[in-house]
Amino acid sequence: MTTVSKTMHGRVAVLTVDNPPVNALSHSVRDGLSSQMTALASDDSVDAIVIACAGRTFIAGADIREFGAPPKEPHLPDVVNQIEAMEKPVVAAIHGTALGGGLEVALGCHYRVAVESAKVGLPEVHLGILPGAGGTQRLPRIAGPANAIDAILSGRHVKAREALSWGVIDEITDGDLVEAAIATAEKAVGKAPRRTGEIEIDGEAFGPEFFAGVRKSVAKQTRGYFAPERCIQCVEAAVSMPLAEGLKRERELFQECAKNPQAKALQHMFFAERQISRIPGITKETPRRDIKKVGIIGAGTMGGGIAMNFANVGIPVTILEVQQEALDRGLDVVRKNYERSAAKGKLTAEQVEGLMGQFTGTLSYDDLSDCDLIIEAVFETMEIKKKVFTELDRVAKPGAILASNTSYLDVDEIAAITKRPEDVLGLHFFSPANVMRLLEIVRAEKTADDVLATCVDLAKTIRKVGVVAGVCHGFIGNRMLSPYGREASLAVIEGAKPEEVDAALYNFGMPMGPMTMSDMAGVDIGYLNRQGMGRENYETKAYDWVDRLVEAGRKGLKVGKGIYKYAEGDRTPQPDPEVMAVIEEESAKLGIERKPIPAEDIVERCMMALINEGAKILGEGKAYRASDIDVVYVNGYGYPRYRGGPMHYADTIGLKNVYAKIMEFQEKFGPRWWQPAPLLKELAEAGKSFADYDRENAG
Ligand code: 3HC
Ligand code: NAI
Repeated sequence: MTTVSKTMHGRVAVLTVDNPPVNALSHSVRDGLSSQMTALASDDSVDAIVIACAGRTFIAGADIREFGAPPKEPHLPDVVNQIEAMEKPVVAAIHGTALGGGLEVALGCHYRVAVESAKVGLPEVHLGILPGAGGTQRLPRIAGPANAIDAILSGRHVKAREALSWGVIDEITDGDLVEAAIATAEKAVGKAPRRTGEIEIDGEAFGPEFFAGVRKSVAKQTRGYFAPERCIQCVEAAVSMPLAEGLKRERELFQECAKNPQAKALQHMFFAERQISRIPGITKETPRRDIKKVGIIGAGTMGGGIAMNFANVGIPVTILEVQQEALDRGLDVVRKNYERSAAKGKLTAEQVEGLMGQFTGTLSYDDLSDCDLIIEAVFETMEIKKKVFTELDRVAKPGAILASNTSYLDVDEIAAITKRPEDVLGLHFFSPANVMRLLEIVRAEKTADDVLATCVDLAKTIRKVGVVAGVCHGFIGNRMLSPYGREASLAVIEGAKPEEVDAALYNFGMPMGPMTMSDMAGVDIGYLNRQGMGRENYETKAYDWVDRLVEAGRKGLKVGKGIYKYAEGDRTPQPDPEVMAVIEEESAKLGIERKPIPAEDIVERCMMALINEGAKILGEGKAYRASDIDVVYVNGYGYPRYRGGPMHYADTIGLKNVYAKIMEFQEKFGPRWWQPAPLLKELAEAGKSFADYDRENAG
């Protein structure tokens, strides 16, 4: 199939790349561009060339689907060098996004014309690699090392206006893009070639201190990532070496990144996040319901944050509370959140008022009768939820979607209290709900397809990553968190200090360890949950020491002491000898001889627990894909993206090894908590991976 075609406009050849959906640089595009350049170089009827794209965007980068396959000539760096070396002027006509290899092609061109809405960027770092077709060498030359390093390390999409100020774009047109590019090309005929790679950088201004500053400024957000350091080294090369040497260095570092397992993990996440909206029974043709107005019940920790998501995209919200005081408090928290954004310069005072204008508070259910979607976020007890849904059934208009933000409760049971269970589902937001990207969309037994489809689309509208889960205790995320927490807590009673458990998991890449997380969320939450469960239903050995802390008033960060102690006004956890004394007493009571536990053993137990529960969830059909579970864990629980989520991580270990390890734990710790998931056993025995499972079940 021809993906690069030529049309003549006077003496200007316009090459149009047409490779849907995003004009990625698949082999046919590279080949087409290269052979056209070769032919046009010696074509006397052509004075200049324009590279433009059909469809929604300029070239969005290398074809990620080709990664991993043996590379085929012509390679992209050679194509870009070939374009830059042309004696005839070459002009890029940019609309949509010129990303990665797309921007590198544009930088190989001698001029760049764009429309106002265009964006450019080098997002390779998000895929665990670096711009490998000259981007790390040409962008610093044209935009300056500081702008280049910002773009390369953040991977952000830079708006045309900003790119114009950097010199990356020469002209923004509000007329016809290709015509403007042709005019630029015609004007350039006969002038000396204008090659980005020939621009000199003033290396003096960008010495070791500059790069030390860069490293320091990104240290926190790039902790554990392989590619960012290599990106910095490439820009160092751009500053200190001639182009040809810099390109060689870029190639070497690119190969290092491409071979690192993080690249595979991050590319897995790229596709995983694009799979989530593929849901059995839902198609483009499935009807959607209009969501123009939303109701929220409860203005507590969750309700206000949930409401903000809708107000932020211009959907008005009515919030209902039981008492005026609670309502005022809730709306005040929302206002303070917006004012904090304003203080950081992200919103103007006028915008804050505009956003607050989207909120209406009420104490009466009748005010919800015009809402298209109503989300309940009241206390986590079935009795109260049922009362709320009975009221909703009474007042909501026909066709309104009724959702619960419950963390654990049975959504089928909640739905059954209404006369319209087909309109009911779970919408489980994560705290803080205005910030966290994950949304679990809980498909109950009777949830209608159009209700589900509407909520999947709505997740995108409110800029969430919406993953569909089935009804089970804790759905995908919280259900998996439970055995993970249990193993962490058992490690403490068996001999590890809380800070050792936290350090082990932090060093694995989690944003914080489970003990710190407990303190932040409130140690009393788990305590209350266990009180309701009955001792026979959980591992008492793991939690008795925690419960003693809660009973002594150590409820966590909010009271200044929990598993750790905290100095006044400081959130830094500090180990507390009083806590160690309780732990040691409890170990002794259980007849446990405390022994140090190596960090890798702690990580292994916690990870195996997570993976095994994930496999159970998948086997029971409570998640549609293993990759959906990865999306949940990365976006909702801070699992290191560079490990690709727990299920991808399991694949990197090999499911045979995972299964063997779980059997070993069964032998060592007993069968009560270490029952391998049937699906895990089946895949391990068949020599398959979770990725195989996803592929085979994709249809
Ligand atoms: N290669 C292959 N497929 C790609 C792709 C790429 N670079 N970029 C997007 N796609 C596919 C997606 O998988 C999706 O496929 P699907 O419909 O089958 O699920 C389809 O294109 C549409 O993508 P989105 O749903 O993401 O569409 P949006 O309109 O929301 O976003 C986009 C468009 C901004 C271009 C976004 O897709 C994107 O950010 N793409 C990745 C860009 C990128 O990372 N480029 C760098 C690639 S690496 C590189 O260039 C290396 C070089 O330096 C050597
Ligand atoms: P919260 O206690 O902070 O807020 C609950 C609010 O609901 C209170 O303001 C209360 O006045 C109000 N309320 C209680 N009964 C009501 C009724 N009958 N009608 C109207 N309002 C009523 O609780 P939070 O943390 O916001 O939790 C709410 C729900 O969200 C629970 O189901 C919880 O499991 C879930 N959830 C909580 C998360 C968290 O991190 N806090 C995370 C995800 C879900």
